[in-house]
Amino acid sequence: MATPHINAELGDFAETVLMPGDPLRAKLIAETYLEDAKEVCNVRNMFGYTGTYKGKKLSVMGHGMGIPSCSIYVHELIKDFGVKNVIRIGSCGTVSDDIKLMDIVIAMGASTDSKVNRIRFNNHDFAAIADYHLLETAVSEAREQNVPVRVGNVFSADLFYSPEADLFDKMNKLNILGVDMEAAGIYGVAAELGAKALTMLTVSDHITRGEHLSSDDRQKSFHAMMQVALETAIK
Ligand code: HPA
Repeated sequence: MATPHINAELGDFAETVLMPGDPLRAKLIAETYLEDAKEVCNVRNMFGYTGTYKGKKLSVMGHGMGIPSCSIYVHELIKDFGVKNVIRIGSCGTVSDDIKLMDIVIAMGASTDSKVNRIRFNNHDFAAIADYHLLETAVSEAREQNVPVRVGNVFSADLFYSPEADLFDKMNKLNILGVDMEAAGIYGVAAELGAKALTMLTVSDHITRGEHLSSDDRQKSFHAMMQVALETAIK
């Protein structure tokens, strides 16, 4: 049955859903990589598609920006549409001295300034982590495809424009590889509802150096990450 935010029916989604932030990117992924893709939902223009990849049923849906938005979609996908694996495919900023634009970061864990996981856990710290099977599959796929990836901790920020002057310096010292706005939320929802989740990110911005990817390079690094994500999704 349809939910407040997803106008689809049970069975419309595959067990595995690839999730970019941007719904138009979900459309592009469906058109570029899936066969027989059909639009299965479109409330608020948050488009979702289901088709096949190498003969296996696979879905792709946007999740919007920030933990509140992605938490709604991931919650309903798992609870009401039988989704078991969520693979976020997004972009991130970095503050790390040894990470460059176009690098691919896989979020083994996700720190955050959001309170959502504390709300779930009596105000205690919850270690928001990727599902190990998805993580291991993605890393070995990347190795097989000769796609270099960095695996470690990311930071899911509530504020894109942070007023905390020393935060980026501390992130660099604590070996935070990337800054996004969703991974910790998605890992929390998956843990709460007994599903599996992974976040893969291409580095689109070097925050402290003030560098940003050109749209050409954005496309190239995204394609490399997609190949790893697609193979991971059907394993
Ligand atoms: N901050 C947070 N999220 C992001 C960024 C950033 O600099 N770049 C891409 N996603």
